[in-house]
Amino acid sequence: MDDKTSSLRQSFGELIEKVKSSDEIEQLRVEFLGKKGHVSALMSQLKTVPNEQKKAFGQSVNQLKQEIEGQLKEAHDRIAALEEQRLINSAEDYDVTLPMDIDTGSYHPITLVMREIEEIFRSMGFTVEDFSEITDDYNCFEALNIPKHHPARDMQDTYYLSSGQLLKTHTSAAQNSIMKKYGAPLRAIFPGRCFRNESTDACHETTFFQVEGIMIDEDISISNLIYFMKTMLSEVFGKDVTVRLRPGFFPFVEPGFELDIQCLICGGEGCPSCKNSGWLELCPCGMIHPNVLKYGGIDSEKYTGFAFGLGLTRLAMMQYEIKDIRTLNSGNLKALSQFKGK
Ligand code: DAH
Repeated sequence: MDDKTSSLRQSFGELIEKVKSSDEIEQLRVEFLGKKGHVSALMSQLKTVPNEQKKAFGQSVNQLKQEIEGQLKEAHDRIAALEEQRLINSAEDYDVTLPMDIDTGSYHPITLVMREIEEIFRSMGFTVEDFSEITDDYNCFEALNIPKHHPARDMQDTYYLSSGQLLKTHTSAAQNSIMKKYGAPLRAIFPGRCFRNESTDACHETTFFQVEGIMIDEDISISNLIYFMKTMLSEVFGKDVTVRLRPGFFPFVEPGFELDIQCLICGGEGCPSCKNSGWLELCPCGMIHPNVLKYGGIDSEKYTGFAFGLGLTRLAMMQYEIKDIRTLNSGNLKALSQFKGK
């Protein structure tokens, strides 16, 4: 019996020396330690061993089993170390200076234009504020001089939430909180996503971006408004732009205006892009209504201010010549990745 144990030990010893992979180790394990393996077969001969030798026989087979287990583990560790070394060597062979062909992604055109505008206004002393997309009736309408049942509410088809709150329909919804937070004097812009329950087409989307701006101080007048808008638009378009104001009605400004810029494509002569009018409607604005200042806790006798609501999505479409607004929300990376910042 001892002969069998030692010949098994010897043949295992020869085989384990030669293994080169984890698969081969596993094969050996099954061959020797598996249910139908050599060690089990040896152990099954215990019943034929005379009683007085049973104990010694059992011990020597168990001893062999432990030795085999130990050697299998050693072989496993040895091969794992070799594998690791092979990986390290192959990494060293890799030329890290070779040019990569990796798609690095790009910023969304809205992000690009938004950052540009933020930078321009920061350089003119404005802070950039953030405001939540969910707000309430007070902030979105009442604090903006749009009481319940006011016809102006019809202009903005609103998504109401079951909590009674709503998705902000315009960035003007942040005016009241920002006035209360900072008081006067104040210069702030607040870009953000807005939502309206609109039917979509090439020019309309249920989700779009605006940048709201307010400037409040003593003696602020319409000329300040024109100056800031003209400066900002000239910076964005990289050339001097001509602007004009037309009267417009918004309950939170008095007087209210529509600010148009002269068409940059035809220079005001008239072309399909400006529907032959020579002008493009870009930014509603006006002098903040005294009621809105009061709701914001600002002394309307002492302070005046202007506000504007720039259509950021529109601006991005103009700047990047995007013909269909739906491209912006499409998630179509092929279309969106072609836009690069200046
Ligand atoms: N909040 C208005 C809208 O989305 C746009 C607007 C008009 C904003 C006049 C203003 C403003 O700040 O003065 O329809």
